[in-house]
Parts: sequence; C-alpha cells; structure tokens
Amino acid sequence: MLKNVFLISLFLIFSCKENKSTFKVQETFEENLEPYRPQFHFTPSEKWMNDPNGLVYHQGLYHLFYQYYPDDIVWGPMHWGHATSKDMLYWDRKPIALYPDKNGYIFSGSAVIDINNTSGFGSKETPALVAIFTYHDMDGEKAGRTDFQTQGIAYSLDNGESFNVYEANPVIKNNGIKDFRDPKVFWDDKTENWNMLLVAGDHLQIWQSKNLKDWQKVSEFGRNQGAHGGVWECPDLFPLKITETEEEKWVLLISINPGAPNGGSGTQYFVGDFDGTTFTSSQKEEKWLDWGTDNYAGVTYNNAPGNKRIFLGWMSNWAYARDTPTEKWRSAMTIPRELSLTKTRGVYELVNYPLEGLQKELQEVKDVNVASNSKYTLAGFAINQSEIVFKTAERDFILHFTNPKGERLKLSLNKKENMMVLDRSQSGKVAFQKDFASIQKMPIANLPEGEIEFKILIDWSSIEIFVNKGQYVMTAQIFPNENYNSVIIENTLDESINFKEFKISKVESIW
Ligand code: FRU
Repeated sequence: MLKNVFLISLFLIFSCKENKSTFKVQETFEENLEPYRPQFHFTPSEKWMNDPNGLVYHQGLYHLFYQYYPDDIVWGPMHWGHATSKDMLYWDRKPIALYPDKNGYIFSGSAVIDINNTSGFGSKETPALVAIFTYHDMDGEKAGRTDFQTQGIAYSLDNGESFNVYEANPVIKNNGIKDFRDPKVFWDDKTENWNMLLVAGDHLQIWQSKNLKDWQKVSEFGRNQGAHGGVWECPDLFPLKITETEEEKWVLLISINPGAPNGGSGTQYFVGDFDGTTFTSSQKEEKWLDWGTDNYAGVTYNNAPGNKRIFLGWMSNWAYARDTPTEKWRSAMTIPRELSLTKTRGVYELVNYPLEGLQKELQEVKDVNVASNSKYTLAGFAINQSEIVFKTAERDFILHFTNPKGERLKLSLNKKENMMVLDRSQSGKVAFQKDFASIQKMPIANLPEGEIEFKILIDWSSIEIFVNKGQYVMTAQIFPNENYNSVIIENTLDESINFKEFKISKVESIW
C-alpha cells in the first residue's frame, strides 16, 4: 500500500514535469549493479529458473511458481520456486514451494483453487490451492526406462505459503510414454469436471477427474497437426471471444522444442473448439504466439480477475539457456501479457500485449520525418530500461539501437518481403553459443493498411516488440556491453517517411 502511494506520487511528480528539458537520467552500464539484471521483469534473486508454473490468482494474489534449481545457474534437480504479486507488476519473492521427493524432481505444471472442495483437502470456507505437476524420476530415466514421468499433486491451505504433498502420489502413472508431462488443469463449469491437459511426445492428451485424484483419459489431439520439429511441452487451453464479433473459440498453446521458426524452442497455437472432452481444429498452417527466440513454455493464469487471460513465458531458449552471460542467476520471465483473439481477413490470430501499469518517465516525444536515403538520430537516452512507442503507416524502415562501444541491435521492417527482421549479431555479447547471433524473421503479411502502433520494451537483457497492439510479437534476449543510448532511424527509400509521436520513456525499476 505504502509502496503504491509512493509510486503514484512519483508518477504525478514525473508527469507534471516538462518532458524535454528534464530527461537528464543517464543510466550507465556500471550503475546497473548486476550486469544484465532485468529491472522490470521477474527474475529469481539467484540461481537457475525456467518455466512459469502454477499460475493462479487467489484472494488478491497472483502466484508465480517456476522451475527452479537453487544450487546452480544451470538446470538441475527441479523444485518449484515461488513469487506473488498483487498487480502482476511488482513481485514478492517467496521461499521454495515444492522440493524433489521420493517420486522424483518436480517438473512443470499448474495450480487450481478447489472451490467446491472436490478433493476433500480443504473445506468450502478454506478451499485448497492444489498444485498439479510432473514427477521426473531421474533413476528411472538413467536406467533406460520409459515410464519415469508421472503426475503428482500437493495442496496448500494458506494460499501458497506451505504445501502438503499428497501421500498417494502419483495420481497418474505412466505406461511407457517417455515424454509425458506438464499438466495444465482447469475446471469446466458446464461438465463439472476437472480437465487435465498433458503432452505425450508428439500429441496432447486430455484427462478428466471429479476430485483431482482419480483421472481418466478422454481424448487426444494433434499427432498430425501443427509443428512437430520437436517434443510437445507445456500445453494450455482456454476460450476467448473474438474481439469484434463475440464468437467464442478455444485456443490451445503448445510449446515445442526444438522446431521453432527461428530455431530452438518456441510456442505454437491452435484455434479450434472444445466440446467438454475433445479439442478439434481445422487449422492447417503453423501459428506462433511469438516469433522471437526467447519466449518459451508460456501458459496463462487460472481464475484471473475480470476473466482476463494473462500469459507469462520464460524469456529464454533451450538452445542456449545454460550459456547466457549472467553470473548470479539465469533468465527472466516475459512481461505479463493479456491474450485476445481477432479475426482479420478470415484469419484467426492470437494477440498478446503487455499489461499496462508500469511507471514511466518520459524522455522524449516528437513527430519524426526521415528524409529519403538518410538517417535520423535520437541520441542521449537511457535505452536499456525503456519503452519506445510510435505510430506510423510506413512499412519499410530500420531502427538501430546503438551504444558508444559501437554495438547495435537492428530491427527492420521490409515491405517487399512483408517481413520484420531482428538482427542481434552485433548487439553485444553473442559468442557464448553458435546460434545466438542468427537473424530472426517474422512474416507480417496480415497487417492492416494505415497507421499502426509499435511498442518496444527494452530491459537490461531483453527486447520485446509488439506490432499493431500485439498482432505480431518478437521477444529476444540481448547482452550489450554498455547501455544503448541512441536510436537511429534509417530510411533506405527514395521518399521520406514519417513517425507520429515517437516516444522514449524510461521504465522505473520494479525492485
Ligand atoms: C519445458 C520443460 C518442461 C519440463 C520442464 C523441466 O521447458 O522441458 O517440459 O517439465 O521444462 O524443467
């Protein structure tokens, strides 16, 4: 509360200031005490983190559990780390929630609130928060067995402060599927069933239960649909109404590793229907929630207020997650994003766009005209902790984010190819893994005509690009050796190009 009053006052002070003359805030790289530590994205205070787990809202708190190894900055025996937030912007880091036990490591999964006390773990007055996860039995794997992944549950009666592991675990055994994991559970009011989505190598399985303990498989999806360049992981399924027409469709998220369009791991989605037992989709083409290299294993919150679909992803890629140049901790979550569904020219598209609310200090806002075959430089800004927003009807331009060391991150829009291209090959440290410097491409063929918004969030080791309010999105890690302090807009056309309200704001630290 006090923190909020303080932040609101800060915001009022900053928004009353005259913008241009007061933007003297120059953040140098050294001022960022731990190099690359994100200032407005969630990170554990130390050690290794991967997937977000157990995303659920209960009694005023958004829970973020996550894959966590508390002894090293590389992947190891998995625990569930834990953090909570009242607003999805500011986080409280909490003690570890779940530890490996006799059934194995605690792999990814979800959490639900058992309002009707179907499990008997709580009561109607104090419903249990039930975590559903995969057990990974390392000994079984080493012994060459195929049944080493099973599903287990644990419950909390104090809103996630402490957990009791269910004594009769596992609740789902494995009859020989090597990759059988990542349970996402949700309650269906219509059928009064708990539904569990499980991935099984190359397809999705749906299981049902009345009490979270006894489960039966009811359907399968996807052996021959979508991308199959790697193993399916971290499923999620939820209804969304098309913004313009109120038509309801169900969206299935499936992470895949490898097989993403720009290499390594990525998240695909299917738009279809769910009849209470089976998901079907006529979708032929592959669809991607995010085209950048660094948004993986993302899932959405159960029970979020206002029926919102809020998504968080792990901002890394299995291709190099263990090699990134941080020392105390490894990797961050994406900015929380609200998901929505649109239908443009007959094509369903899943839109993801950051939640509003971060405190910002305006550094610059101006209309920009870039003459033909020339460059326009906006210099002297702290870029590594910023939001850049502009509107334009142009579809061909290049943005270079540069620093005094001569490093540059290059973002281009190419009209002829209908492509957005992110080139981080000269952006800073890139040599720690052979593919990190590769060029990332995103087809943007279905953009509407006319003026659209571009929103770019840059933190100390990431860039998130939202085109047309999240119709097309790219997320990527970056490791510059100094703060970027200029944005150079390059025009290679024979006519001038225009940007309306090109706005650079510093984003306040959430820590
Ligand atoms: C996805 C994933 C999951 C698994 C977890 C293990 O990144 O591979 O499938 O449960 O990470 O940490």
